[in-house]
Amino acid sequence: MKKIALGVCSSISLYKACEIIRLFQEEGFSVRVIMTEKATRFINPYLFTSLTGERTIVHLFDEQQRPIEHISLVDEVSLLLVAPATANIIGKLASGVADDFLSTFYLAVKCPVLIAPAMNEAMFLHPQTQENIRKLKNLGVEFVEPESGYLACGKKGPGRLASPEKIVQKSLRLVRSKEIFKNKVILITAGPTREFLDPVRYLSNPSSGKMGYELAREAYELGAEVILISGPVDLEPPAEVYVEKVITAEEMRQAVLKHYARADVVVMAAAVADFKFSQSLPDKVKKEKIGPSLTIEKTPDILQELGASKSQQLLVGFAAETSQVTDRAFQKMKQKNLDLMVANDVSRPETGFGSDDNEVWLLWPDGRSKKIPRMSKRKISQQIFSEIEVLLNERQRNS
Ligand SMILES: Cc1cc2nc3c(=O)[nH]c(=O)nc-3n(C[C@H](O)[C@H](O)[C@H](O)COP(=O)(O)O)c2cc1C
Repeated sequence: MKKIALGVCSSISLYKACEIIRLFQEEGFSVRVIMTEKATRFINPYLFTSLTGERTIVHLFDEQQRPIEHISLVDEVSLLLVAPATANIIGKLASGVADDFLSTFYLAVKCPVLIAPAMNEAMFLHPQTQENIRKLKNLGVEFVEPESGYLACGKKGPGRLASPEKIVQKSLRLVRSKEIFKNKVILITAGPTREFLDPVRYLSNPSSGKMGYELAREAYELGAEVILISGPVDLEPPAEVYVEKVITAEEMRQAVLKHYARADVVVMAAAVADFKFSQSLPDKVKKEKIGPSLTIEKTPDILQELGASKSQQLLVGFAAETSQVTDRAFQKMKQKNLDLMVANDVSRPETGFGSDDNEVWLLWPDGRSKKIPRMSKRKISQQIFSEIEVLLNERQRNS
């Protein structure tokens, strides 16, 4: 079922529901909006009707709806998301009050329920609200924690609605999780590394980290525990993913090795700098003192090291090439003892480094290969994980 029921309550942040709807639609989900009556004081339900193409529900007793709509709709939706959720609706749901469509529908649904609170910080921190949240959590209701920051009331503190991206990512985890990924630890690296000559000069590459961050998001949505080791990038990490930020190849190596023993799957999507300066100086070197040549040396080959000490881990590598892409990537895969190699041609500006799209070859050690034509990095990450799923299932069958 690819329909989400979205409950919208009377908080100023309800304008963010428009973005939430758009993000679900981009993922191929349709949305049916249920507004509380007070929410309609802020915005006309027609806004959501126009965005979703389906009549927004407000009233329990409405002759234009199907008879007993709050029961008929139950079988059509895979998630009930309430965003923004007021202190009032949280209190009503926690105590089983069913005096409007949304609260009545909550008692009728069998699908997962996700609540994204939004309110003034005093209201959020009030022991009564906290007690209501605890009660709902104990009943299996999931929450997207509100963020801290400036609130509509002019105060600062926790209570701001989480970002639409986080809300949608957590929603998708609830509807897309797969058994094979549950309880699996997936370690992903992303972005470039920087190898400093002094505090203001470094060797690096144009990696944006987009591919690795999309992979982390996909692994999270499929239900895994995700550890993301990220080089310096300008990206928002996916929801509820443990992130460790590193700068240099050696720091990335240390961070990866620290988590390697626990990992079931490792995807090395980072573009680790191949070289570093032989000397890294603590103070800025005067231009005049830098000679015509600088000595560089190789950075550690993290994938090689992981491949050499591999036990239960499924090891996925990335190869960025500019010519003979598949031949070189195949050799690397063999040399590094990988289970799957993703090869991309970074010489093309529309794919590869920094772009939103990619076009890759998937290579397996048994000689199989598959081309994934140009598509968004989001879609590429889904294709890669469906192959990882096949490999994990094979392993499970053989164990
Ligand atoms: C301008 C304005 C903004 C409000 N913002 C919020 C809010 O962000 N969170 C909240 O819990 N209540 C907020 N309230 C209070 C709720 O609207 C009020 O508790 C209402 O009864 C909730 O009804 P509902 O849960 O059926 O939408 C706001 C009220 C006003 C007038």
